Amino acid sequence: MRKPIIAGNWKMNKNPKETVEFVAGLKGKLPSFKDVESVIAAPAVDLQALLDAAKGTDLKVAAENAYFENEGAFTGETSPKVLSEMGVDYVVIGHSERREYFGETDDDINKKAHAVFNNGMVPIICCGETLEQRQAGEAESWVEGQVSAALRGLSVEQVSLAVIAYEPIWAIGTGETATSDQAQEICAVVRRTVAKLYDQTVADKVRIQYGGSVKPGNVVELMGKDDIDGGLVGGASMEPASYLDLVNFKA
Ligand code: G3P
Repeated sequence: MRKPIIAGNWKMNKNPKETVEFVAGLKGKLPSFKDVESVIAAPAVDLQALLDAAKGTDLKVAAENAYFENEGAFTGETSPKVLSEMGVDYVVIGHSERREYFGETDDDINKKAHAVFNNGMVPIICCGETLEQRQAGEAESWVEGQVSAALRGLSVEQVSLAVIAYEPIWAIGTGETATSDQAQEICAVVRRTVAKLYDQTVADKVRIQYGGSVKPGNVVELMGKDDIDGGLVGGASMEPASYLDLVNFKA
């Protein structure tokens, strides 16, 4: 049984004060961590405020990115070692916005996956195709390639813990959601890829999220699909009420 994991991704939005207000708005309304993992991925500048506010609650904290070195002359980067020392649980890596605007490669993302695990955290590894790739019938092979590259060299134990987020780029922030069948189809490809690279036991443990215009109105249907174990949510994770509707999708 895979535990559902719903993660908000605030992207480059909210300041520390707004972060604290957001968490105050969740008070007493989050599902138990035993049933659903509720996660917020916040900008690096908000993480300390989020960690402090989330203390004693069922909310888990994710960074939106980390570098693959722990320290050194890397101006402007965020150390995965320090994130771990702060108490961060997850790190989103390979988001399509990082790949597109900051030139991140599959190789960078693989190094980041190793760095996150080596520092005792769990990566949320993003993958997903463009509209052109989907229209050309290349979605499956593209995603298979991204997942294979991201996982290269990781151990069975590490991959068993990993979270992989399938986010078709054409559905991000566009209001256009993949149908639940389209989402399921590629999430199944992700799981098959893990089975091919490792084995079925490992593949059955990996949690796979769908991301791209997830909202309270479609979360139940998406979560009902066999290979969808959670959501990575941008816009609909920004306000406590909507976020609570998502994480309480079972209620
Ligand atoms: O990482 C989440 C994301 O890219 C999806 O954004 O706004 O379509 O839910 P949104």
